[in-house]
This record gives sequence, structure tokens and C-alpha cells, in this order.
Amino acid sequence: MSFPPGFLEELRERVSLVGTVGRRVRLVRRGREHTGLCPFHNEKTPSFTVSDEKGFYHCFGCGAHGDAISFLMGTEGLTFPEAVERLAAEAGMEVPRPSREEAARHERARGLHELLEAACAWFEKQLRLPEGRAGLDYLRGRDLDDATILRHRLGFAPDRRGAVAAALKRDGFDEAAMREAGLLKQADDGRDYEYFRGRVIFPITDRRGRVIGFGGRTLGDQQPKYLNSPETPVFHKGRVLYNHARARAAAGDAGEVIVVEGYMDVIALDKAGIANAVAPLGTAVTEEQIEALWRMAPEPVLCLDGDEAGRRAAVRAAERAMPLLRAGLSLRFASLPPGEDPDSLVRTSGVETMRAVLAAGRPLADLVWQVELARQRPDTPERRAALRQRLMDAAESVRDPVVREYYVNDFRGRLSELFAPRQARAEGRRQDGRPGGRQGNRQDWRRDGQPNGRMPTPQPEGLVSRGVALLGQRHRVQQTVLATLVNHPDMIHEFGERLVTMRFSDNRLDGLRTAILNCAAAADALDGSSLRAQLGQAGFGEAVETILRPEILMHAACARVGADSVKVRLGLMHLLDRAHEPVLLQELDARVSRLDDRASDDELDGIVGLVANERARMTTPDES
Ligand code: UTP
Ligand code: MN
Repeated sequence: MSFPPGFLEELRERVSLVGTVGRRVRLVRRGREHTGLCPFHNEKTPSFTVSDEKGFYHCFGCGAHGDAISFLMGTEGLTFPEAVERLAAEAGMEVPRPSREEAARHERARGLHELLEAACAWFEKQLRLPEGRAGLDYLRGRDLDDATILRHRLGFAPDRRGAVAAALKRDGFDEAAMREAGLLKQADDGRDYEYFRGRVIFPITDRRGRVIGFGGRTLGDQQPKYLNSPETPVFHKGRVLYNHARARAAAGDAGEVIVVEGYMDVIALDKAGIANAVAPLGTAVTEEQIEALWRMAPEPVLCLDGDEAGRRAAVRAAERAMPLLRAGLSLRFASLPPGEDPDSLVRTSGVETMRAVLAAGRPLADLVWQVELARQRPDTPERRAALRQRLMDAAESVRDPVVREYYVNDFRGRLSELFAPRQARAEGRRQDGRPGGRQGNRQDWRRDGQPNGRMPTPQPEGLVSRGVALLGQRHRVQQTVLATLVNHPDMIHEFGERLVTMRFSDNRLDGLRTAILNCAAAADALDGSSLRAQLGQAGFGEAVETILRPEILMHAACARVGADSVKVRLGLMHLLDRAHEPVLLQELDARVSRLDDRASDDELDGIVGLVANERARMTTPDES
């Protein structure tokens, strides 16, 4: 949904960010800002700051950053339009319906929702009439009690031509709308017939609980076993998750969401007290569904049937998810005993067994590793190289550079462990008393008696020193930014937001940044010499001297006293673009400082990767 220009700005102006955040986070005023414990990561000391004036929050711990809209999206799982609507209501603003077409589409969708709701109620009623007796018996035969049937609004579509149409017509709906809603379909003879006949009906709702379509199951073993509503203006199979609305509420409490294969699995789990389960509609999980799952919980657990099809579905879901992974967001995979689905498992083995299966869910990285390892025994150098290639390809499919980097490292670590010489593993065993390696029942892929060293890694010369040089360069950029601001305090306000989000590789620079911001916040107008004096009083005299040394000023005209304001502004923009690489930079820094001459190939490889990334970024314009 798009809003007319100016609307969002006005909304942001009108709502109090501190008020919105304060409802969820205990905030304490500190100067012009408020601080508290970050709701986006676990912490004991507050690194989360909120500034009503600047209209954004920022966490120095995890980097979370945004405005009131993104805060509601992040903490309450709302979509953008939902968050806007909520805030607008609070601010007493009306959300404009942007265009006439959109209004018309809205109107039509509302009509369809009403029609589908009426159809759902009618199907429910049929289940209690003599004509629906077979449906009710079927559901009871599957162990469903009345409360469960009512809660999920299960129903029955009689096998009688014209039944649905006649009933809905009496309620004032026309056949064109019924066709549009997917309830009627034109037969070859040109007449309409009901889409669902002689089937038990599972209503499908959207995330807000409005009926948007149906699934219908045969009572016997006719094909297809399940029939789903066709695509309609309100029903898009690839976007829908069965039980989304109920699971969303339940996931909020548990912080977890479970993905199963079928309608009956969702319902059986719910009946057993596990309400936070959803199911895609008989297709592989789509990107949209994965994103929707992440709005409910950071690590949805996929619990797929314990057969070959279920395993393939897990692999497909993993492939879909890899490119989308972001810090903290992933999937977990729980496998059921062969031949079982969640519905059969809770019935035969009880809900505790089911919970144990879910708790034993494995991380996505484990699944990918095991799938690739299982393709072929890596018992020759060529096959090992192929395994490595497949794993690296998988890791490279992750779009987020930081997560990708960790995947590369994770797989490298597993590979070198797998192919490590026997002696090294024996040592590992002595140290922790358990068999070396992370897999409990690891196999030895080496042929007996053959020496088997570390996988050879190509080592381009000088990369580590390039990494170190790059770090030095970054440090210098950061110093130059601060030097420029110390000599041109009139720019602090303009660049304040970017300065706040900058990450320093050095604690002293970090402290100096905060001190500069504090001084600027406390004074209306500030000139260079009084800022320097204040910083000196605050104990930063030496730090200021360091950044204002001739070496820095010589290379950065914008940092010099007296530089004209256009130059200063352009210089700062350029410098901030280059300095704005929070996570990678930190990581690189930590790695380089850990290096010594016994560094393993993997550590070197990791740095090589980071350096390559950094260099690519420094030569392309920053996206911010
Ligand atoms: P299953 O065949 O595993 O369903 O299909 P199930 O839930 O175990 O079925 P029961 O227990 O025999 O009733 C899983 C899901 O795949 C979709 C449905 O969404 C179903 O819930 N499906 C299955 C179809 O869309 N069409 C079909 O013909 C079969
Ligand atoms: Mn089943």
C-alpha cells in the first residue's frame, strides 16, 4: 500500500516515539534522549536509545535502528500498513485511501470477505444437519471433539448441485461474486456447479482471521484427497499459512512457531495444546511464507513428515530460506519418525513425544551439511573437493554478507574437522572426554593408513597484510570524521544521525564521538575552540590532539579550520560513506588482532573473505 506524499512524515511528527516505545520498554531520560534495555536483543545494561527529537531509536548493542513504524513491526509483528494504521489511530489521523482503483479493490475484497464468511457459516451449519452427518462422523472418527471442530470452524459441503448457490443467494449474494470467490465453477455444459461437493471443509483465514478460502477433504479415498480454493482476488496460495491468525497470537507468547504439512496436523496439535502451528497449503514453502513466519518468530521449526517427501520438502525449504537469512533469522528442522505425521504422532505417542521431537529440531546449517554429506561418500580427493564446492555454493547463496561469511566459516570448520588427521581428533577426544567433532556418530572417511592433512587452501600472498592495511585505513577514516566535526561543530547536528549509527573500531574514538554529541546537544551554538575546551575538560584532550595531528589534516582538506562549508559537507558525506560498515569492520578487527603465526588456513580464509567484501564495498557506493 502506498500513502500520499507527506502523510507518513506528518504521522511520524505527530506520534510520540518515546510514548510508543515506552509502552514496551522501560525508558529513563538521559539528557535529550531516553535509554532502556533493547527489546531486539537480550541485554542486561541499556544500550538502546530513543530520541523523540530525531524521531528514531538506536541500539548500540545490536544495531537495531528505526522509527515508530518499524518499532511496531519489529516488536508486535505488524505489517507496514498495520503499523501505520495503529499509529494513525493513536494520533487521531485518518489513513487516506490513496487512489480510486485501490478503493474499488478494497470494496470488492470486502464484498468477497463477507461472501466467504457467509459460506463458511453455512458449511459449519451443514455439519450439524442430517445431510452433513457423514462429515461429522468422519471428523469424530479422526478423534476431533466438538470444541476443536467449532474452534477451527470445520464444516461440510453437501454433494448436491446448487445447494451453496441457493443458500448464498438467499443471503443476497450474486453468482458472479460466488464465481469470483471460487465457490462456483463453470462446467462444460455452461452451467455453474459447486467447487466443493461431498467434502469436509477446512476454512482458511488470513493473518487477521478473515475467511479467504477453503480446503475440502474427501471422506473416502477419492482423488484428489484435498481440494483447495482456486486463486482469487483474496486467496493466493503461496502467501497463505493455514491457521496463521491463531498461531500468530500463540507464537507471540511462546516466541515460537511450528510449520507442519497438513490441515489435520495443525488441528491435532492445537487439540493437544500446541496452538502455534501453521501449514502451507500442500506446496513447498514460499519466500513470502518464510518472511511471514519470521514476523511471528525468529526461528520457525519445520516439522515435516518422516518420509522421503517430507525430507525433500525440508531441503526445498532450506534452499528457499538460505538467500533470505539475516542476523538472528533462520529455520530449524525437526524430523518425525518414519511413517508418522504430527497428527498420528500425538495420537499414538502423546504430546510430550511431539514436544521432544520439536525440541530436538536442528539448525539450518546442520541440515545443509548433512544433506550434502549424504549425497556421496567423500572418500577421494575429488569427492572431497566436490563436497566442499557444494557447501560453498550453498553458503554463497546467502545474500546477507555477514550471515554468508559465518556460513562459509561454519562449513570450513566442519570440513577440516571431518578430514582432520586422526591424531588431531584423538587429542580432541582426550581434552573433552568425548569423541572429537560435533557429530556424535561421525564416520571416518579416510582410507586406513593414508596420511590425510588439512584441505589445502589456496593462499594468495599478502592478503592478511592487505587486511591489516585496510583496517588502518578505516581507523584513519574514522579519525578524520571526528577531526572534521571538532573543527566544524556547526555540522554536528546535520550529520548527527549518521554519527550516532557509526561503529568505531576503537573505544577511545567511540567515547570521543559520544562526548562530541553530548557537547553539541548541550549547547545551542558551538565554535571549534569552545568544543575543544569542553572535550578537554571531559578528559578527551589527548584523544582530540591525536585526531587533529598534522598527518590527518594534511590528507583531509575538509578537516582543516577555515575550510569552506560546501567542502566540509561533501568531505563528511564521502568519509561517512566509507566509515559506515559497522559489523564487518568489527569482525575484521577482532580477527586480525587474534592472528598469530600459527593461524590456521581457515582463519586466514575467513579474513581473505572479509577483505574481499570490504574492498568490494569501498569501491561501490554505499547504499545508505
Ligand atoms: P497429506 O496427504 O500429508 O495430508 O497432505 P494429511 O494432513 O496427512 O491428510 P490426512 O491426514 O490424510 O487427512 C498434506 C497437505 O497437502 C495438501 C493439503 O494441504 C494437506 O493438508 N494436499 C494434500 C493437497 O492440497 N491436495 C491433496 O490431494 C493432498
Ligand atoms: Mn495425516
